[in-house]
Amino acid sequence: MNANSAQTNPAAQENSLSARLRTTQNLLREALKEFKPGSIALSFSGAEDIVLIDLIRKLGLTIDVFSLDTGRLHSETYEFFETVRTQYDQPIELLNPDPEGVQNLVKAKGLFSFYEDGHQECCGVRKVQPLRKKLATLDAWITGQRQDQSVTRSDVPLRQRDEAFSTEGNDLTKFNPLAQWTSADIWHYIRENRVAYNPLHDRGFISVGCQPCTRAVSPFEHERAGRWWWEEATQKECGLHGQNIIPITPV
Ligand code: ADX
Ligand code: SF4
Repeated sequence: MNANSAQTNPAAQENSLSARLRTTQNLLREALKEFKPGSIALSFSGAEDIVLIDLIRKLGLTIDVFSLDTGRLHSETYEFFETVRTQYDQPIELLNPDPEGVQNLVKAKGLFSFYEDGHQECCGVRKVQPLRKKLATLDAWITGQRQDQSVTRSDVPLRQRDEAFSTEGNDLTKFNPLAQWTSADIWHYIRENRVAYNPLHDRGFISVGCQPCTRAVSPFEHERAGRWWWEEATQKECGLHGQNIIPITPV
């Protein structure tokens, strides 16, 4: 059976999803056995991450969860955080950027400089710095990255050394348990398990980030076409997963 037959045949798709589901469950068990509470956390933002929370709960396990609150998220995203917090009785630690960094950027360049000179500087202040601070306290983190999300993610492994955030004193492991799932797998799981999702997905948004840098996409556009749409597809990493554009090391 090849990948094409799985795409066109729902039964085949179901079978391959079952295999991917088992791989993900095994990896989550392995990660949460190897890394004790307090040393591993899930980086939460969207549909993939709620699937991970649901899977972890169904395995009878728990996980610390954090999210990068850039201050520029949609109100629907904040409401989604609250839905997750209450439905799963799951605390979500919201990480805020350094106020001085934000003030300096806004004072120098205003609130929308990313449309002029790219998103890296603003993402650096609002996402990467708070993430770096958080990851310095952990030995491992879990993300919802998928290989078919972007040209920059086609080689993302299930487990890797984090080349971008490991430091001399801290060898950081990064788990991407949904690396082999497709977008269709995610939405199949969400529907089958009646999992909550960000209401923006019902309004044409597929990949959701900050409000000024995310737009709805047309039916046949790529799922990341609505992120930083004024930039090249090969540059669409904000630094959270910066190692996707440098060589990676599976471990
Ligand atoms: S992004 O780097 O382009 O913004 P994307 O939205 O595709 O990432 O999400 C991929 C994974 O990165 C998510 O499943 C999640 O693990 C992590 N992530 C993305 N945005 C955030 C955020 N604001 N806070 C925490 N984790 C995030
Ligand atoms: Fe800034 Fe846009 Fe990056 Fe959010 S996604 S941190 S608003 S550049």
